Amino acid sequence: MVREIIIWPDPVLKKKAAPVKKVDAEVRALVDDMFETMYAADGVGLAAPQIGVLQCVVVLDTTPRQPDSKPVAMINPVILSTEGTTIYSEGCLSIPGEAEEVERAAVVTVGYLDASGKEQTLRAEGLLAIAIQHETDHLQGKMFVDHISALKREMIRKRMKRLKAEREADRQGSAQP
Ligand code: NI
Repeated sequence: MVREIIIWPDPVLKKKAAPVKKVDAEVRALVDDMFETMYAADGVGLAAPQIGVLQCVVVLDTTPRQPDSKPVAMINPVILSTEGTTIYSEGCLSIPGEAEEVERAAVVTVGYLDASGKEQTLRAEGLLAIAIQHETDHLQGKMFVDHISALKREMIRKRMKRLKAEREADRQGSAQP
């Protein structure tokens, strides 16, 4: 089921997500919904808090809809080590239409549980390394705009408030007979 993606700023996006205690059918259903939601929104990553679920679950696919598509679900991901730095123009499904350059580690090694509850370790570089850092940030209540200047962040905040007001107006308009 495609879920609604929460738009920043929103208090839930600032909260820390709780670790998953047991990878059960409920968690796997959450993972399925998150993949559906991410693909429907043309994203390459999604964290559970973005759909209002404060659990440490992220989904990633940096090559969606391609033959070599590699969907990865990470439960309780922890970045174990990083190497180097890189700068990439990042966006976020919770901040639609915006992108800003953010400095990140170039390579990360991440430990996590997969959807069957098995421990995994992955060393990632390129866009996947950036996406892993972006999504694990979400689990700490941190957004990519927390890495940019306050001036840029406030400009984006104004545009997102306007966007939310427009969406709310649309919703009320379409609810009328
Ligand atoms: Ni994001």
